[in-house]
Amino acid sequence: MMSGLQVENLTVEYVKRPRLGHKEERRHTALADISFSLSGGKTLGIVGESGCGKTTLGHAVLQMTPISQGRIFWDGIEITALKGAALRPFRRQMQLVFQDPFEAMNPRMTVDRIVSEPLHLAFGMARVARQRKAIELLRRVGLDEAALSRHPRQLSGGQRQRVALARALATEPRLLVLDEPTSGLDVSLQARILNLLRDLQAEKGLSYLFISHDLSAISYVAHCTLVLFGGHMMEQGPTTALIESPAHPYTASLLAALPNPTSGRDMKTLSSAISRASHIPSMGCVYCPWCHHAQSRCHLDSPEPTVLDGERLVACHYPLPDKARQREP
Ligand SMILES: Nc1ncnc2c1ncn2[C@@H]1O[C@H](COP(=O)(O)OP(=O)(O)OP(=O)(O)O)[C@@H](O)[C@H]1O
Ligand code: SF4
Ligand SMILES: [Mg+2]
Repeated sequence: MMSGLQVENLTVEYVKRPRLGHKEERRHTALADISFSLSGGKTLGIVGESGCGKTTLGHAVLQMTPISQGRIFWDGIEITALKGAALRPFRRQMQLVFQDPFEAMNPRMTVDRIVSEPLHLAFGMARVARQRKAIELLRRVGLDEAALSRHPRQLSGGQRQRVALARALATEPRLLVLDEPTSGLDVSLQARILNLLRDLQAEKGLSYLFISHDLSAISYVAHCTLVLFGGHMMEQGPTTALIESPAHPYTASLLAALPNPTSGRDMKTLSSAISRASHIPSMGCVYCPWCHHAQSRCHLDSPEPTVLDGERLVACHYPLPDKARQREP
């Protein structure tokens, strides 16, 4: 039996309201046929630009978003087949750190309540014991006991992220879905949070699904990485291999967009791509309109994920050859 998380052929469709003057509902495929596995104590990075389906993937794994197709296993047990009380123990083991912790926190609650609420809900822990555990959790994420009486608006971005982490750790989970845990923080704070995450992982054997649009953060923490574009898997494999030698043209373009003081490039290349989600073609390769390597076949046939170098999967008819797997111009 495989320990950890396994996702098979996950598809999520959102139903959108009909356009004005139209009757029929519109369907938007946010994730199409995504498969991966994540073993215990490891980190899988999920990377891609805004709207590619990263949050949807995290929520679907945690059963917070209905899935249209596919199966999800935890330690070999199919959790997509479970409901209600049968699902509860698994919910405890898998926690989410929300993309925007401020939005997710009740502004009227104190840090004490935010962190100790899951202890009450999951274990029915009494008040004194809850507070003792909350202090322990806060200390573990680098916060002082004095934070207990504060409200979310009285915390800095980095402190909020630590509180969100303390809350997520309260139920002693084995898997954390971290949705953009360092976005909005300055570089030195980002590094501190990433180091904290690495320490916690080593200490508790946690598995992380680490969601980010930032390949440099991913490269620091993720053992393996899955690259998403328009809800489709482009490439996945060991992070070092992907970064040293990307096989998919989209992975290469993400690398080219990384901040690089010598070339003067910055993340604008990535953020200018936000509007691409609504221009994904319905036929052929989803990345075709933007791909410098596209050939006529790419407009017609959707590429199936294929194993490359025995260790990664690539969904491209013409993967970049090893020597040419360098940064895109
Ligand atoms: N509840 C919803 N109803 C309808 N469409 C949705 C819903 N949530 C997300 N979408 C759409 O699904 C796609 C994927 O959204 P998602 O939030 O998963 O992307 P993301 O990669 O997390 O983006 P970001 O980096 O901006 O957080 C987008 O096109 C989005 O507009
Ligand atoms: S299948 Fe074709 S269009 Fe798609 S990424 Fe590969 S080369 Fe580019
Ligand atoms: Mg998101």
